[in-house]
Amino acid sequence: MCGIVGYTGGRAAAQVLLSGLKRLEYRGYDSSGIALISRKRLRCWKSAGKLQELENLLPENPAGHCGIGHTRWATHGKPSTENAHPHLDTEATTAIVHNGIIENAVMLREMLQARGVVLQSETDSEVLAHLIAAADGQTLQERVRQCLMQVRGAWGVVVSSTTEPDTLIAARNGSPVIIGIGDGEMFVASDASALVRYTRQVVHLDDGEVAVVRPDGFEVTALDAKPMTKTAITIEAGHEDYDRGGYKHFMRKEIDEQPEAVARTLSGRLDERFNTAHLGGLNLSARELLDIRRIKILGCGSAYYAGISGAGMIETLARIPASAEPAAEFRYRNPVIESDTLYIVVSQSGETFDTLAALREVRRKGGRVLGIVNAVGSTIAREVDGGVYMHAGPEISVASTKVYTCMNVVFALLALHLGRVRDMSPQHGRKMIEGLQALPELIEQALADDDHIASVARHYATCESAFFIGRAAAWPAALEGAQKLKEISYLHAEAYPSSELKHGPLALVDENMPTVAIVPDDDLLEKSLASIEEVAARSGPVIAVTNSDDQRVIKLASHVLQAPAAHFLLGPLLLGIPLQLFAYHCAIARGLDVDQPRNLAKSVTVE
Ligand code: AGP
Repeated sequence: MCGIVGYTGGRAAAQVLLSGLKRLEYRGYDSSGIALISRKRLRCWKSAGKLQELENLLPENPAGHCGIGHTRWATHGKPSTENAHPHLDTEATTAIVHNGIIENAVMLREMLQARGVVLQSETDSEVLAHLIAAADGQTLQERVRQCLMQVRGAWGVVVSSTTEPDTLIAARNGSPVIIGIGDGEMFVASDASALVRYTRQVVHLDDGEVAVVRPDGFEVTALDAKPMTKTAITIEAGHEDYDRGGYKHFMRKEIDEQPEAVARTLSGRLDERFNTAHLGGLNLSARELLDIRRIKILGCGSAYYAGISGAGMIETLARIPASAEPAAEFRYRNPVIESDTLYIVVSQSGETFDTLAALREVRRKGGRVLGIVNAVGSTIAREVDGGVYMHAGPEISVASTKVYTCMNVVFALLALHLGRVRDMSPQHGRKMIEGLQALPELIEQALADDDHIASVARHYATCESAFFIGRAAAWPAALEGAQKLKEISYLHAEAYPSSELKHGPLALVDENMPTVAIVPDDDLLEKSLASIEEVAARSGPVIAVTNSDDQRVIKLASHVLQAPAAHFLLGPLLLGIPLQLFAYHCAIARGLDVDQPRNLAKSVTVE
């Protein structure tokens, strides 16, 4: 998805903009550009392709202490230099960078063309530069507000103009914009990663807000000019957390970071006195928790799969009926919202459009929504009634790994908390606490099998398709395992509950179709063995991913990826680690770009 950076202050703006854009590369982009104001003149450089192409165009030390930059992920118009941002008005007085979609762009383009304006690009965004330049407000802020009153759609937009050479105007409606506060300098970005190198004090704009940003401070108003009060927050992560730190890929770094990430998720949340979990941000009393009759979990992609796993843990420990659903599907089927149902939205970025829209739909109908979110201060985190932060640290790789694991850990904590409010015994709670405390060390042990997993991955990296199967708690692990393989190795992978194989997919099993079977050491071990047998009997190669030492698994499988034994509810979570490494090594063996897989973006802020 597109990325925005803005700067005004005493530094050479080009350096700040480029370093910010580099931080945003992970989000996926196909072109980039920057515009600088120097001596009341606006200069702009743009290029299709990687940032290096843009850097090649720039003169040495380009002058200017105020400017805006952008990485574009094409939606309206092909990836090209003309369609790259910033976009300028005809007289080159005003430059804009824009994330989002202007829905009435066709009408606005026709209106501008009728006035004789020659548009330079095919984008919906360019109209903003012309409309702002043509508006008749006294100040840049007024002109931006006038323009935004005429457009429909979603925007995170930053504007720079020769009329106010050290001022940036930033506005948000549906696409994130963050203001970074420095000492005599200010920053704007669509994502905190772009500015943590310079400041960790940030303010998030809300929808419908417009900010005037100058080197000595900022002020925020609503679109109708009503002043808004904003509070700055401190970003937890340092800029080193956004670096690869000696690793070749962010994905690999994030896989290895899981023991510490999980320890952070657990930190201060295990209550050994009452054998429960302490989750301060839920904003629900024990009485209110007792009144919950049902739980509905909403998320997209891996967050949805973590939700399926979470629903299972909640039903097992708290005996509350719980289910998960893809957030967008839920919203579009006009769901019945019940007052005794607790809705939980799950998101790494806290900005996923479909999840945010589902959250708003539930709240609009009077439902209570909790959030399980990683990005502190993100839109979802700010709009929920309460929730739990994962504290997994920044996740840069498009393929989620440590955050998927930490989502599961938060669900385990929530299930424990809900269970202990209900019928779960202190002894049972104690076992769960011990299981959770052991996790960081067990993940470390699972990671140690890397060489073996790499050799198995190389063996299968040339196959065309694979099935992933698992029963009950292992099914979401199968879904996530298949998702990882698809995302980064482009192998066709399909996940099924093990019991479903014989109802259709088994027809595809032969010696060329491997099946990755997730076999936790739980009550269903015999059933899982039966499924493996079904595949092996049809000459299908089986890769068993297990924490059981049952010899029958080893005999039946062509390859075994072993993880350590764990509390029965946490086994599937632990089996996710070999699955991540398997996908990673398959992608490496196939020579693919692990961190920026084709067609995908880290956070999907459009519908
Ligand atoms: C995970 O590997 C994917 N990149 C994707 O499915 C992701 O989990 C999904 O887009 C949801 O993102 P979120 O957690 O930021 O809401």
